[in-house]
Amino acid sequence: VSKENDTALSAFEWLTKYYHHMLKHSKQGKEGYRYLLHRGISDLTIEEFQLGFAPNDTDFTIEFLLKKGFHEAMLVKEGILSLQTNSKQVTDRFRGRVIFPIRNHFGKTVAFGGRIISEGEPKYLNSPESSLFHKGKLLFNFDLARKHIRKENEAILFEGYVDVIAAYQAGIKHAVATLGTSLTDYQAKLLRRYVDTCIICYDGDQAGIEAAYKAANLLRQTGCNVKIANLPDGTDPDSYIRTLGGDAFRNNIIKKSEPYNTFYLRYLRRNFDFSQESERIRYVEAAIKHLALIKSSVEREYYLKELSNEFDFSLEVLREEIHKEQRKQQ
Ligand code: UTP
Ligand code: MN
Ligand code: MN
Ligand code: MN
Ligand code: MN
Repeated sequence: VSKENDTALSAFEWLTKYYHHMLKHSKQGKEGYRYLLHRGISDLTIEEFQLGFAPNDTDFTIEFLLKKGFHEAMLVKEGILSLQTNSKQVTDRFRGRVIFPIRNHFGKTVAFGGRIISEGEPKYLNSPESSLFHKGKLLFNFDLARKHIRKENEAILFEGYVDVIAAYQAGIKHAVATLGTSLTDYQAKLLRRYVDTCIICYDGDQAGIEAAYKAANLLRQTGCNVKIANLPDGTDPDSYIRTLGGDAFRNNIIKKSEPYNTFYLRYLRRNFDFSQESERIRYVEAAIKHLALIKSSVEREYYLKELSNEFDFSLEVLREEIHKEQRKQQ
């Protein structure tokens, strides 16, 4: 770590403390504090994650950091302050937002996520990439989750950092999240170094399902066993835990997560209109193409039986098709 990085890390550390202080002890911060409590985030969690509040002011952060002796140019370069494109004026990046410090894998803050308290756009504002913050390499909460991930030989992957925080508070500590982007190959390989199994638990909406499919394939390429946890449509881990509790989440969502192949077949179905015979046949053909890739014959047989029951084809015919497919794929 260069000297310059040390200075930037120190600015992030000061600011984390200051935003946290504002949340807990300032008049402006009360709104943010109430917002978090209202969302079911406890005082203890606010402390553990050092959540904070950035006042709605254009130069609150600048003044604080300049007084501490940091240089404006460095703060702009590291994305802590933002440079207005037109006026070339330097201003605070986060204004009137609840602050989620984003820690690197060693526990140091290297970025912030800021959530707006009321309605407005964007809902979340994240620090830009910098010499300290590489979105594609960082997993939120990996520093705290690492030992739990290792112990469980399993990692849970969420979409949002609020999901990670809600789960953590409910005692599910082996979870991480990407930072508003798709899972990268780098992140998948990192997880694979620690676990055999990854559970993907994205939001229960179409976007979540599509993203889960992509993340699953990246993880499988690393040799990871992938399971998918399915949430009811319109919910996400945080909202589920808040309304139904951590135990329900553990027992009904995480423990019931399904093997990748089951998920895949369901995912495939969305392309076919099952009210038409020709479409049903096309689906079975597509399913067979996929099943032919499964190495374990026990597992393959399991899905074949399901297909045979649902679509009323004899197992013999389906097995024959699988073999044809396997010969083609060789
Ligand atoms: P979601 O829209 O699912 O947000 O986006 P959320 O985490 O459930 O947020 P709450 O519960 O409304 O507070 C998932 C993730 O996508 C990124 C954030 O990292 C968020 O956690 N995101 C979303 C952004 O970066 N910017 C946005 O404007 C929205
Ligand atoms: Mn505190
Ligand atoms: Mn979502
Ligand atoms: Mn969500
Ligand atoms: Mn949410």
